[in-house]
Amino acid sequence: MHLAAYFLQIRTVHVVCVAASISLFVARGAWVLLSGRGLWRWLRVAPHIVDTLLLASGLTLAFLIQQYPFFNSDWLTAKVVGLIAYIALGVVLFRGPRSTIVRATAGLMALLVFAYIVSVAVSKQPAGFLTAYL
Ligand code: HEM
Repeated sequence: MHLAAYFLQIRTVHVVCVAASISLFVARGAWVLLSGRGLWRWLRVAPHIVDTLLLASGLTLAFLIQQYPFFNSDWLTAKVVGLIAYIALGVVLFRGPRSTIVRATAGLMALLVFAYIVSVAVSKQPAGFLTAYL
């Protein structure tokens, strides 16, 4: 059968990965900020697997609807830019300076960026929830 026939299933995989990604992010963030100790091995490995699947399913969906970031789709471009910001803020939180305040701020900003990406996905508008302020 054609890949397009599985669009809804692939979108479900994508959305489940979205939920898993943010849950793991919050769990990891809370752990490193509150305990200050090293992470369980699986809590270091699982996010990479989930995030790879999130990206792969997102790219597959983009291919199926023939919309491509930086090419013909403003809202997908906004999502990818948001994703890069989310990853960068995650690097500051998990590998950044010792300062708890800097890391906690990066973590909170990452949550905001994540909410923005979801709002872009749902509205299919590059401004997402910022539309209300524009
Ligand atoms: C942190 C990263 C991401 C989050 C939080 C996210 C979130 C979501 C959500 C919640 C939906 C469902 C929207 C709905 O059914 O109304 C969705 C759909 C989708 N996402 Fe993502 N996504 C992310 C990354 C990506 C990436 C990197 C791509 C591809 C470049 C992508 C492409 C798509 C596409 C094409 C759809 C389907 C749109 C449609 O229903 O026509 N996503 N995303």
